Amino acid sequence: MSSKITVIGAGSVGSTIAYTLSNGDIASEIVLIDINKEKVAGEVMDIAQGTCFRDPINIVAGEYEDAKDSDIVIITSGIARKPGQTRIELTQTNVNILKSITPEIVKAAPNALYIIVSNPVDIMTYVFTKISGLPENQIIGSGTILDTARLRCGLSEHFKVAQKNIHAYVFGEHGDTSFIPWTGAYISGVSVDEYYELAKNLGKEVDVLDKDEMLTYVQKSGGKVIANKGATFYAVSAAVCKLCGILLASSDSIATVSSMMHGEYGIEDVCVSTLTLVGPNGIQGKVPMRMNKEEVAKLQASANALKEVIKQIEL
Ligand code: LAC
Repeated sequence: MSSKITVIGAGSVGSTIAYTLSNGDIASEIVLIDINKEKVAGEVMDIAQGTCFRDPINIVAGEYEDAKDSDIVIITSGIARKPGQTRIELTQTNVNILKSITPEIVKAAPNALYIIVSNPVDIMTYVFTKISGLPENQIIGSGTILDTARLRCGLSEHFKVAQKNIHAYVFGEHGDTSFIPWTGAYISGVSVDEYYELAKNLGKEVDVLDKDEMLTYVQKSGGKVIANKGATFYAVSAAVCKLCGILLASSDSIATVSSMMHGEYGIEDVCVSTLTLVGPNGIQGKVPMRMNKEEVAKLQASANALKEVIKQIEL
């Protein structure tokens, strides 16, 4: 694939995204931008020197102008969560950083698809939608794509079946008010609830799934990784690089990404994750998944919690 991807922010997440991209075939050109010139130069040198074992790829430390003609721009700038901190606690600082970089990057790459990764990601996606002046289809928040990956990982371990066979999703905020709509959780064509019987018939021993515990596992994973090693970057980078592949593919995919709501599930003027059709033209719309009343209420509660945060920020 011959595409140009710009990553803004050379912290752990931005650099790991650039590194992950440098190992794949999605990008032929990568630009990494950071206000810390020494750090970004070091990251690019380290990444570039590992690329002799692959087909040629161009990786540079750049300025905003160097993002010109990017197919995708990934925004990771901002302060990261410290142990014990919530994503929401980062809000105004990271909004201010986003406000400072948005005019420059949008001027350089007005036609790119933008992936917003900085936390709190739903708020940052909302702010970027409001201040960038770009069409909404070009703006994709990484949202709960990572939480969904964590859920698939957890369910795969529980049911002892490959992650690729697990079709289950995390909706809502990428954060403490997210939830799992179990109505739409399947292992291949079999609902998660029915899978026990099937597993038993196949002679497999599978414990009863504690759904609350599974949600806690998903919600606390980021915090646990931060408590253990200081930051999270591998899983989020894998998720973002997968999203780049989706945006550069020839057809649309369905993923849990965050984007502006326009009355779907009774929610509007907030960015939140639900099943979304997304592809080479960016966001194509929300895919309405069948949910029960409680699940719709949880999604609305999550959206409302985000709206409360939005009310308090200075745009
Ligand atoms: C996490 C960070 C990226 O959940 O929000 O790992």
